[in-house]
Amino acid sequence: MSTPYWVAGQPATSEDRVEVRSPHDGALAGVTSHASALDVERAVSAAHAAAGGFAVLPAHARAAALDHVSRRLAERADEVAALITAESGKPVRWARVEVSRAVSVFRWAAEEARRFSGELQRLDTDPAATGRLALVRRVPRGPVLGIAPFNFPLNLVAHKVAPALAVGAPIVVKPAPATPLVALLLGELLAGTDLPAGSWSVLPVPNEVAGALAEDPRLPVVSFTGSGPVGYSIQERVPRKHVVLELGGNAAAVVCPDWTDLDFAASRIATFAMYQGGQSCISVQRVYAHREVYPELERAVVAHVRGLGVGNPADPATDVGPLIDEAAARRVQEWVDEAVAAGARVLTGGRRAGAVVEPTVLADVPPGCRVVDEEVFGPVVVLAAVDSTEEAFDRVNASRFGLQAGVFTHDVRLAFRASVRLAVGGVVVGDVPSFRADQMPYGGVKESGSGREGVRAAMEDLTEQRVLVLTGLEL
Ligand code: SIN
Repeated sequence: MSTPYWVAGQPATSEDRVEVRSPHDGALAGVTSHASALDVERAVSAAHAAAGGFAVLPAHARAAALDHVSRRLAERADEVAALITAESGKPVRWARVEVSRAVSVFRWAAEEARRFSGELQRLDTDPAATGRLALVRRVPRGPVLGIAPFNFPLNLVAHKVAPALAVGAPIVVKPAPATPLVALLLGELLAGTDLPAGSWSVLPVPNEVAGALAEDPRLPVVSFTGSGPVGYSIQERVPRKHVVLELGGNAAAVVCPDWTDLDFAASRIATFAMYQGGQSCISVQRVYAHREVYPELERAVVAHVRGLGVGNPADPATDVGPLIDEAAARRVQEWVDEAVAAGARVLTGGRRAGAVVEPTVLADVPPGCRVVDEEVFGPVVVLAAVDSTEEAFDRVNASRFGLQAGVFTHDVRLAFRASVRLAVGGVVVGDVPSFRADQMPYGGVKESGSGREGVRAAMEDLTEQRVLVLTGLEL
């Protein structure tokens, strides 16, 4: 049976059948169809038509819908996690974490919808404005096109959908071609709400159709998560639109000489360099450790990486499964080989079988290698010793990306210095850069993108200020 896609809240199918297969063993995860051109048009025109009414839908109605989705996701968590694993190859232990994060994203969005009120500004600070007061509220910029990636096929869709619905902005979601099924299941949950027709659609379409959707003037906001080249090409195509870009990174962790629990640091680095095959924009790709602690850290990272379970993603003991497809794994292998040919040492891993890349730790990687300079998006981490924390900070910053960084230190002054010195969207102290709480602002500087997600931050991003000036008041 074909899983329907969702057009203005209604299920639909087309003749253009899509089989979704696991990158682990090619097993059929499900079947759906590409949204037809007519259905794409129906979804966009319904979003456009719904915008005015949806923007003034009472907060309780929007919050109730978001709470409903949160509860239903929690109730169906095991089924949803299994579907994430089946279609993306993400180890089920990480798929479960993803579902619980999405539960919290919808719950936070419900809570934020209830308190998204605006603020008062007194204007009687000048004699000419005596008795005047401004009410500054935020109104939706308009319907949103949300383009989601494959690496968090539920939660990064949730980060598009939940804030849009919370502010009353209709949204048309385009899931990643490799992982449409979980987004369509989310549509099933949304269909159980009283949200107005036209306020949401989920359309699996090939990437080529996304360009035309992005150019459609009836969708004035584009929220994109994915690769830099695609994100920037969208931005260039629609310079007058509001475009939010969540792009890649080559996140770094710094281990300072005062950090005492090196085994903890190593275990976090090993886990979060390799989790879901390194397919996270904030997985640990680079580690700069002070020379005083480097040898012990290196030994411990290698030991922890060797202890990771690699294999069948449906097995709860598996930490590292396949990449999204074999082409991705081949590219990662090529970058590792390039580093090795340039003189890098392989401390563990370094080989590939099909779509699976062994968790790989490299050292002595010469400058200019892609495993350092580009986003690997694979289970590879590069270790380097530095002479000072300042050198480590310089090396973190010597990147065209800047999403998050982790700094292992107990020194609160150094923590503040890191947050000033490091050109990134967020610094995590005492842990890896991969930490993300879904309610906190999340996004990058430099080529990691522009704009912020995180429920409240996205709600601000999807709206613009509108001022109402009241006059003749006794203040
Ligand atoms: C991403 O890969 O951009 C998202 C990371 C996360 O949500 O943990």
